[in-house]
Amino acid sequence: MTKLEKARDYEVKNQTDPNRQPAFHLTPPVGWMNDPNGFSVYNGKVHLFYQYHPYDLRWGPMHWGHQSSVDMIVWDRMPVVLAPDQPYDQDGCFSGTAIATDAGHLLVYTGVTKENGVEVQNQCVAIGDGRVYRKHDRNPVVRGEMMPAGFSRTDFRDPKIWKEDENWWMVVGSRDEKRGQIALFASDNGMDWKYERVLLAAEDGFGTMWECPDFFRLDGKSVLVCSPQNVEAIGYTFHNGHNGVAFVGESDAMNFQGVKAQPLDYGFDFYAPQTTTLPDGRQVLIAWMSSWHSPIVASHQTWSAQMTLPRELSLRKGKLIQQPVRELETWYKETVRYKQVPIQEPQSVAGVEGRYVDFTIRFSKPATSEFTMDLAKDERYGTRFTVDPKKGIVELDRTFSGLKEDVVTIRRAKIPAEGIQTIRVVMDLYSIELFINEGEMTMSCVIPTVETADQIVFGSEEPIEVDLDFHTIDARAIRAKREVLA
Ligand code: FRU
Repeated sequence: MTKLEKARDYEVKNQTDPNRQPAFHLTPPVGWMNDPNGFSVYNGKVHLFYQYHPYDLRWGPMHWGHQSSVDMIVWDRMPVVLAPDQPYDQDGCFSGTAIATDAGHLLVYTGVTKENGVEVQNQCVAIGDGRVYRKHDRNPVVRGEMMPAGFSRTDFRDPKIWKEDENWWMVVGSRDEKRGQIALFASDNGMDWKYERVLLAAEDGFGTMWECPDFFRLDGKSVLVCSPQNVEAIGYTFHNGHNGVAFVGESDAMNFQGVKAQPLDYGFDFYAPQTTTLPDGRQVLIAWMSSWHSPIVASHQTWSAQMTLPRELSLRKGKLIQQPVRELETWYKETVRYKQVPIQEPQSVAGVEGRYVDFTIRFSKPATSEFTMDLAKDERYGTRFTVDPKKGIVELDRTFSGLKEDVVTIRRAKIPAEGIQTIRVVMDLYSIELFINEGEMTMSCVIPTVETADQIVFGSEEPIEVDLDFHTIDARAIRAKREVLA
């Protein structure tokens, strides 16, 4: 059996029952998953690949796992597509992207190997039909030697490829002796590449290596997304060590000089985001909803991690805004709407409970005293979100979410300048994603809490009134529709 056949056989035989996994957050069928890869539309479906080590709950020789979806909510399991089985990728098929071409679905990934005992990374391609992929004979198509001396050959990974008219472009994560940077390459056929320049490099120690770059245009502006490693926190931002960030350019030119990094998420679990453009023009982002230093894998799990909900991107006053993909709304089951519910003593609201929910709280005026919201709660468990206007911060606290490991449990962030007007909460079996002020600020959080803890409790120091728009999500119907491996 080849390495790929072995992985396929293993995942078919050991796949987890979808009823024991989150309903609408993509999870691997079995084993370890990290970065999203090859997020793209091909032959009428959205495809998502991912860094995958099916045999273990820990990171290991990287394969590319695969799932596809028509609505980014119901994810069908597809057979693993890449295994580290060639001389140029025998130590791993690392992250990359994908693009639909006339010749088929083109995957671009990093092949990891050793030269004279030293790890080297180069960029490779594979082409396929949405199910089976063949690595190209000319791999690797982009080699570290193409770059100036002093650029690392070991840290040179995660290609993003795109096409504009007849020009092909690729950005790759890189570093020189001192700092992380993004290298830009160009081609006129997608196979023969040449190094162009450094698109952007870290200033002031902002990351020793920049991983997982993405480039796209949004509302007439260029946007560069990447994941700098080893970043020191600045105030209440960049607290994850490795962080997902965005640079929003001033025009549509490929120029980011002097642009400041925006944090993409203020929670615990968010890394290596990548985006794709849907046929209707929406730019959608998905990220690994986990973290390298503080991952949560409950002891009963046979799979390791989840992706975030795909998020629609837009710009508001130069800020990147993220909102849940609207397809989620087609899976609403029950809806309750309240106008001006008085909140003071910690209290639940009739009909407002559950673990598969999407609800929005609207404050008639920004809170001036402490407001709390307990989620996935029962007598024993609960994860608390607090708005503390006096201190000017919000806080997410998962200390009592059922953790059995010493992971990071409290995250704070500054209240945005206009105060907090709305909080949207999307919960699936083991996660909470918060979208504050219509997506101005997001916080992503994994919780291992038992499913029976399903109360939602609101409290306020001073009496306030809020509007509440509450929906349960039909997890049962989503799970019943998911295709498993055969
Ligand atoms: C980011 C990352 C990538 C690399 C992959 C390996 O999380 O370190 O840079 O390609 O994971 O699994």
